[in-house]
Amino acid sequence: MLEDRKMKTQSQVSSIFDIAKDTVLFLVLSFYYILESLFWTLVPNAFRPMKSLKGDIVLVTGGGGGVGRRLAIRLARLGAKVVIWDVNEDALNKTCSAVRDEGYEAKSYVVDLADRAAVYKSAQKVKREVGKVDVLINNAGVVFGETLLELNDAAIERTYKVNILSHYWTVKAFLPDMIENGKGHIVTVGSVAGLLGTYRCTDYSATKFATVGFHESLFTELRAHGHSSIYATLVCPYYINTGMFDGVTPRLMPMLEPDYVAETMIDSIRKNEVNCIMPGSVRYLLPLKCLLPAKMCWDLMHRVMKGPQSMMELKKKPQAI
Ligand SMILES: NC(=O)c1ccc[n+]([C@@H]2O[C@H](COP(=O)([O-])OP(=O)(O)OC[C@H]3O[C@@H](n4cnc5c(N)ncnc54)[C@H](O)[C@@H]3O)[C@@H](O)[C@H]2O)c1
Ligand SMILES: *[C@@H]1O[C@H](CO)[C@@H](O)[C@H](O)[C@H]1NC(C)=O
Repeated sequence: MLEDRKMKTQSQVSSIFDIAKDTVLFLVLSFYYILESLFWTLVPNAFRPMKSLKGDIVLVTGGGGGVGRRLAIRLARLGAKVVIWDVNEDALNKTCSAVRDEGYEAKSYVVDLADRAAVYKSAQKVKREVGKVDVLINNAGVVFGETLLELNDAAIERTYKVNILSHYWTVKAFLPDMIENGKGHIVTVGSVAGLLGTYRCTDYSATKFATVGFHESLFTELRAHGHSSIYATLVCPYYINTGMFDGVTPRLMPMLEPDYVAETMIDSIRKNEVNCIMPGSVRYLLPLKCLLPAKMCWDLMHRVMKGPQSMMELKKKPQAI
């Protein structure tokens, strides 16, 4: 009995010692991480090592869209083998000809991301016809922009299928090859609406919040399993001038331009960043939502930023099927 208790106390002491040791190590490393992060914030991109995407196979979903098209063009310029997926064939063709105008080629596939079987089938086709994907950019997204009671059920389901469920199918299809190659990058396109609930976006915001959880969990899995050369980047942009939020005129900050978003996104990928929030200033505003009284947050949103009012101007979109 006495022996038992003694051993227990000993192991408790050793575990306290372990915790203290790990904490001290963590504090010392944190000092280094903060300095490193400050250092890279101050160094312009032109002077820092950036991952080359030359020869890499990069797959962009929603490649026919506003951001997707700019991504395809810029990735082709960097020497990547660009593969684009979209449900809209006409938009895909336009991206292909824009890439061709610059003297490059992009391979396109008509895929409905809401159809799991189609995603798996197209993934096999890409592997056969192009090769193993090095960088996967889950960029496609839809928004219907209705209040909860106006949204029809099919629209809600479609938003979930495209904006988040498809990420499971594409990552399941392409991550095993990345693990085998010991190299890869998974890019999740979320939104500022995935960090802050937005008017007329009960479905859209919820799916974008889900992308944050998806990315963060996937990141912990990759790191915990020692896949240190497979990167994950979460991209959360504010409104972008692509037509997705047509009619909305935000009060304080103008919409971002798709070219700027594509460029910032690719820089972030090439720096292996874990998070990319655009514009950067949003990073400093977000913690306020946890710190300030809820009434004050609502007043800031409603009175000063006029967020809901500007979303009321969103042009109506045909709801799904
Ligand atoms: N536009 C914005 O204000 C804004 C803000 C923050 C985040 N985002 C996100 O950025 C990403 C790109 O948005 P964008 O502004 O380029 O939008 P966009 O509407 O211009 O392009 C989206 C593309 O996805 C494609 N797509 C839609 N459903 C699909 C499906 N079922 N299968 C395959 N493809 C499908 C569309 O055909 C379109 O070409 C999206 O994930 C969006 O949610 C946009
Ligand atoms: C897109 O391009 C393909 C191949 O060039 C062509 O067969 C198809 O008809 C085009 N689709 C649209 C909608 O323009």
